[in-house]
Amino acid sequence: MITLNVNGTRHSLDIDPDMPLLYALRNHLELNAAKYGCGLGQCGACTVIVDNKPVFSCLVPSGSVGERAVRTLESLGSPQAPGQLQQAFINEQAAQCGYCIAGMIMRAQALLEHNKTPDEKTIREHMAPNLCRCGTHMRILAAIKAVVAQGVKS
Ligand code: FES
Repeated sequence: MITLNVNGTRHSLDIDPDMPLLYALRNHLELNAAKYGCGLGQCGACTVIVDNKPVFSCLVPSGSVGERAVRTLESLGSPQAPGQLQQAFINEQAAQCGYCIAGMIMRAQALLEHNKTPDEKTIREHMAPNLCRCGTHMRILAAIKAVVAQGVKS
């Protein structure tokens, strides 16, 4: 039995501690925003925030998380009330197939939580580990820059 603190709620899960955090989130907690892309830490589709840092949840054993706070896209808003970054991604039509977007938003969220005024170079460098096979990187960049221009709401 392990305990995970996800989106502000503690969950006790009877799972193998070696199970990737991504599987625990998706298959046991029904938090399906984070996606399985490569399973190798090479695409970022599975990105969530752990302890205020973006991580590839496909590489993190659930049993290694301990008390650290896990946050997924579901913590930012809902279809009815999207969060600031989610709304900006909608406004900029940043999704094509959408598979990478939850990971993209969580990586961007982690950046904006510790730097509310990143310049374009900083955004590009921070977002580099996350890939979009549709090639909407410029729209993703525009969405993040729009939030910076609006002023990041905490
Ligand atoms: Fe985790 Fe690709 S699925 S980095």
